[in-house]
Amino acid sequence: MRYTCYGHSCFSVVIKGKKILFDPFITFNELAKNIDVNTIEADFIFLSHGHEDHIADCVSIAARTGAKVVCSFEIHVWLNKKGITNTHPMNTGGKWNFEFGTVKCVVAQHSSGLPDGSYGGNPMGFVFTSDDGNFYYSGDTALTLDMQLIPQYATLNFAVLPIGDNFTMDVTDAMQSAKYVQCRKIVGVHYDTFGYIKIDHIKAKQLFAEEGLQLFLLNPGESIEI
Ligand code: NI
Ligand code: MN
Repeated sequence: MRYTCYGHSCFSVVIKGKKILFDPFITFNELAKNIDVNTIEADFIFLSHGHEDHIADCVSIAARTGAKVVCSFEIHVWLNKKGITNTHPMNTGGKWNFEFGTVKCVVAQHSSGLPDGSYGGNPMGFVFTSDDGNFYYSGDTALTLDMQLIPQYATLNFAVLPIGDNFTMDVTDAMQSAKYVQCRKIVGVHYDTFGYIKIDHIKAKQLFAEEGLQLFLLNPGESIEI
């Protein structure tokens, strides 16, 4: 599966020719200034929760591309009021069969206020299963025992986990999460963007390697096959 990093927790995957974008936050990300937000294509946009650093560019990208936005019911209502009507509301525990595969919404232990103070509903993680492979994006979350359920839903090829600490899991908790979800290939997100979440890349990769896990830390604009 082709995975592209756009900085912070924004990334895309291509499944069955469909480009699926997650948590768009580019315009206000100093580390992603080499990325032109107006050139990002998307067929779907998945939002893990309502915080600014996950949805800042959602309205502009959805309006330009016509991508379907998949998010909590409350964010769906909020987007509809902003004129983004190609939306699909979901909530934790639910799954839906999309044209590229199945997505199950799972628990994320976090919060989810929208930028204008509106309630954003539950924060969510997503488990994707498809003919091209399976992966888990946890969204912003603490380490939680609920992650132990995920192997019942899918055998994962990779997982995308926050590792920056302060607002989410740190590197050590993400390693425990990797064990709970039974996945050795982890793409790290939600680090370095702000002063609170700076990490030591070499040390993080070393800690993962010591446990037989692989940590991918990509630069904004970088793509890999995973
Ligand atoms: Ni957040
Ligand atoms: Mn965040």
